[in-house]
Amino acid sequence: MSETNKNNAFLILAAGKGTRMQNNLPKVLHKICGKEMIKYAIDLAYKFSPERIGAIVSEDAPETIDFLESNYNIDLIYQNERLGTGHAVQVSLDFLEGFKGNVICLYGDTPFISEKSISDLISNLDKDDKNAVSVLGFQPKDPAKYGRLKMQDNNLAAIIEYNDATEEERNINLCNSGVIAIKSDYINDLVEAIGNNNAKGEYYLTDIIEIANSKNLKCSVAIADEQEVMGVNSQTERVEAEKIRQNFLRNKFLTQGVIMTDPDNVYLSEETEIASGVEIEPFVNFSGKVVISEGSIIRSFSYLENCTIGENNIIGPYARIRPNTNLSNDVKVGNFVEIKKSNISSGSKINHLTYIGDSEIGENVNIGAGTVTCNYDGKNKFKTTIGNNSFIGSNCSLIAPVTIGKNATIGAATTVLKNVDDNNVVINKKSQDIIK
Ligand code: UD1
Ligand code: MG
Repeated sequence: MSETNKNNAFLILAAGKGTRMQNNLPKVLHKICGKEMIKYAIDLAYKFSPERIGAIVSEDAPETIDFLESNYNIDLIYQNERLGTGHAVQVSLDFLEGFKGNVICLYGDTPFISEKSISDLISNLDKDDKNAVSVLGFQPKDPAKYGRLKMQDNNLAAIIEYNDATEEERNINLCNSGVIAIKSDYINDLVEAIGNNNAKGEYYLTDIIEIANSKNLKCSVAIADEQEVMGVNSQTERVEAEKIRQNFLRNKFLTQGVIMTDPDNVYLSEETEIASGVEIEPFVNFSGKVVISEGSIIRSFSYLENCTIGENNIIGPYARIRPNTNLSNDVKVGNFVEIKKSNISSGSKINHLTYIGDSEIGENVNIGAGTVTCNYDGKNKFKTTIGNNSFIGSNCSLIAPVTIGKNATIGAATTVLKNVDDNNVVINKKSQDIIK
C-alpha cells in the first residue's frame, strides 16, 4: 500500500434542493426509519476515521446548513450555483488542498451504501498507483436514466450519462451509483478539465473517467447490489427506501433472537435497540431511541418513543410511552396508559386508563385505573413523587407538585392536593345522597 492511500477525505454532495420531493423540506433532510438521509452518508464517512469531511451545500437550502451545523462538526463547502456534480467537486478543491490520500464522493440522497463497498473502492485504488479513479457500479433490473459504465477489457473507459448515450450505450446495464473514489494526486488535474459540453449543459463528475483514460491513467469498478445504491428523488422513492430499511432492521432483530409474530407490522427506528428474546406483537411503533431489555413483551398497538424499558416488563396493548420515560424491571403498563418524562421503579403496575407525567414512582406501586397526574397548570409543569409500596386507588387526581410517601394508601376517586406522609391513608370526604 502506498503511503498516500492510508488517508481518506469524504465529500458529501448535498447542494440539491430536491424539487421532485414536492415540498419545502430539503431532500437530504427527509428521514428513513427516523434518520435524516444525509446522516447515513455522514455516519458512513465517520466509519473510515477520515482526515476531512466536507458537505457541499447551497445557501438556498438553509435548513440543511442549520442541520449540519447543529449536529456535526464537519466543513461546509458552499456551491451556490448548482452547475452539476463535477462543479460540486470543483468548488471543493480548495477544501482538499494539501490532502494526500483517497477522496470519496458520496451523495446525500443515497443512504444505504455499505462500508464494504467503500473499502472495495479504496482497495482498488491501493492495488495500482496508476489507478486514479474507482467507481461503485451496479446492475439494476431497470437501468432507467442512470449513467452507463463503459468497460474496455478490465478497465473503465467512460461513464456515459443517459441523455448523452447512443442506443447501443443505453443497452449497457452496468450503471453508475454515483459513489466515486479519486486519488488526491490526480484530482485537481482531472476535475479542473471537466467541461459542460453535453446534453444538460452541466459539469458532470462522471467525465473524469474519459479524462483519466486520456492521460493514460486507469479507472476501475467495484460492484454493489441494487438495493444498496438506491437513490431517493421523490416521495414514492422515499417510501420504497423506507420499506427496504424497515425490512433490513426487522431481519436484523429476528437474526438476533427477537420474537415477532408479524414483523411486517412492526415499525422500527434506526436507533431502536431490542434484546434477544423480547417479544413484539403486531402493530407496534418505535420512534427515536427506544431500548428494550431482556424478557419484556410489547403488546399490540403500543407507541414507544425515546424511552428505556427494563427487564421483564409487559407493555400494552395500546400503551403510549413518551420521551424521557424509564421503566425499571418487572413493570406492567396496560391499555390506554400514557407515560411521559417519568421514572417508574421495579415491580410497579399502571394497568389501565392512566396519565403519568413528570413523575418519580417508587417500587411496587400500584396505580389504579383512571388515575391522572395533574402536572400542568396552563403555564408550568410540576412533579409528582410516589414512594415505594404505595397504593393509589382508581380515578384519583394527583395535583402536582405533590409527594406521596412510602406505604401510603389513597382511596378511590381522591383528589390529592397536599403531600401525604409515609404509611398514611387518604380519602376525600364524600357522601352519597340517594334521592328517591
Ligand atoms: C448522477 C450521475 C449518474 C448516476 C446517478 C446515480 C453525474 C453527472 N451523473 O446523476 O451517472 O447514475 O447520479 O444516482 O454525476 N449535486 C450537487 N450539486 C450539483 C448537482 C448535484 O451537490 O450541482 C448533488 C445532489 O444534491 C445529489 C447528487 O449531487 O445529492 C447527485 O445529483 P443528481 O442531479 O441527482 O445526479 P443524477 O442526475 O441523478
Ligand atoms: Mg439523482
